[in-house]
Amino acid sequence: MASTDPVEPITTALRAAIARAIGCEPSDQRADPVIRPSANPKFGDFQANFAMALAKQSGSKPRDLAVAIAEAAAPGCEPFAEPFEVAGPGFINIRLKPEALRRALVAMDSPDLGVQPLGAGRTVAVDLCGVNVAKQMHVGHLRATIIGDTIARIHERLGWTTCRQNHLGDWGLPIAMVLDRLRNEPANLDALTLDDLNRAYRAAQHEGRGDGAGLAAARAAGSGPHRLAELELQCEDAAAALESAKRTLVKLQAGDLELVRDWQKLIDVTMREVYESARTLGVHLPPESERGESFFRDKLQPAIQAFVDSKIAERDQGALVVRFPGRERPLLIQKSDGAALYATTDLAALRYRIQDLGAEKVIYCVDARQRDHFIDVFDAVEMIGWTRVARRDGTTTEAELVHVPFGSVLGADRKPLKTRSGENFTLKALLDEACARGRREVHARAAEATSPTHGWPAAELDAIGDAVGIAAVKYADLSADVTRDYIFDLDRMVAFDGDTGPYLQYAVARIASIIQRSGAAGTSFAQAPFPADAPEERALALALLRHGTAIAQAADEDAPSRLCQHLSAVAVAFNGFYQACPVLKAEPESLRLGRLRLCHLTQRALTDGLGLLGIAVPQRM
Ligand code: ARG
Repeated sequence: MASTDPVEPITTALRAAIARAIGCEPSDQRADPVIRPSANPKFGDFQANFAMALAKQSGSKPRDLAVAIAEAAAPGCEPFAEPFEVAGPGFINIRLKPEALRRALVAMDSPDLGVQPLGAGRTVAVDLCGVNVAKQMHVGHLRATIIGDTIARIHERLGWTTCRQNHLGDWGLPIAMVLDRLRNEPANLDALTLDDLNRAYRAAQHEGRGDGAGLAAARAAGSGPHRLAELELQCEDAAAALESAKRTLVKLQAGDLELVRDWQKLIDVTMREVYESARTLGVHLPPESERGESFFRDKLQPAIQAFVDSKIAERDQGALVVRFPGRERPLLIQKSDGAALYATTDLAALRYRIQDLGAEKVIYCVDARQRDHFIDVFDAVEMIGWTRVARRDGTTTEAELVHVPFGSVLGADRKPLKTRSGENFTLKALLDEACARGRREVHARAAEATSPTHGWPAAELDAIGDAVGIAAVKYADLSADVTRDYIFDLDRMVAFDGDTGPYLQYAVARIASIIQRSGAAGTSFAQAPFPADAPEERALALALLRHGTAIAQAADEDAPSRLCQHLSAVAVAFNGFYQACPVLKAEPESLRLGRLRLCHLTQRALTDGLGLLGIAVPQRM
């Protein structure tokens, strides 16, 4: 299947002409015609800007070069573009022929919307969510979950086989501390909530910490015996709690039946809430994505052994480390007491993802603070040669390992988001607030007599409000460069105008209402000729035709923002079109039907794209 992007054949023709002129392969970087959308439609739809840089290298005049290349490429471009115009010092202005736009729109108006199955036959593993058992999900997990889900969906859309991997923190000391604490309390493990677990976790953490520093300071300051005795006792308690938790961990990891049963209960309580949040967020997180640290418990020793056997790991005071040339920090893969670490589990998990799942791309949607961790883990896996993947077609390739290091969610004070009482924001509290805000917005609009939702039952308005609130939060999170921190500002996120989720939802609902009001059944305009003459029709067509390219680019760069930019450009172009070109009153009938078909294609592209963001599209708003 061919791409629907009409710029593609023009790029190919210009590339070939440049390559011939300078004597290189068309695939050569230097033969790139550097095509960009024109800033001003007066100068055409696109501009090829290669001549300036190229002329500098070859010592010729840019304008002469541009003219020569434009002439050489003309025969190949003739079916797609008006004759080229060379402007200024050597830009080539490109204007697509209306027939070319129409043909491309017809090709796009198919079930797959012109998205090419670039990932067919290939597998990608996406590390997402990664919550820690017995701890409340917080805002950071929101990002790991929705960014991961979107990246997974984008790859799925391109035909990749996608394995979501939820690397739960379910096998370390923190869990043992909670287990220990709960087992020493008269707690009914069958009636627990995540809040109970969270409280136990915090208490255990507090207990385990003691105040060693405080004690040292008190001693240095010559505190009285009373105060010192108190602090000493507290530290002893802490040490005892820690020792006890460590013993519990050893027993758990050795498979003690009773402990394992209780441990499973903690997991169930945690996962119930995770799945509920996933549902609210419109995130696809099937149970088979649960691949927590415990899943790798039998794979840790073999991984460590492989690093020892290959002499990549070396002993350092009883511990095992991997050293990297030119890097001071080594990667610790086994402590001197023989225990494995977070990094060891990631080595084993990466080996599993590549060798067992057959993933040729592994994407980690994890907090930017773990950047160094992943640099080290990826390098270690490369050093030992675990990146080699056997493909289903019998060939082999090197797996691509990607960390998508996302930034933090900040409050208005630019500090990590807190509730009014200064607590960390739990994910649940945040989603509740977003839904409440969405409902308020939707109810207020419905109160206006001219609103399409005027007089609707409250329950339906509530459902739309929830969809709006969630779309607001998700789109704001995904539409900016995910590596940056952002300020959580519900007012801005939930606005119906501007680059927001509700704006896109509203565009879809508006189109649905136009089509409904036209009285036309889908079939009546299915064969109508697409209009591509008015500047606004052309602008909309050009935006739509980037659909497949934008999705592919979002996958290549693991950047949901690329998709968001495309959807926003389509919605803006649609509004421009709708303001300038009457649809329902257009004449003759063929133009009315053609414009309806353009509306319908826009609705489908936006719905498809929002679906990749896991954003629901209410039919009326
Ligand atoms: N549980 C970890 C945390 O909360 C995140 C897991 C990320 N994934 C991974 N493969 N390390 O920090």
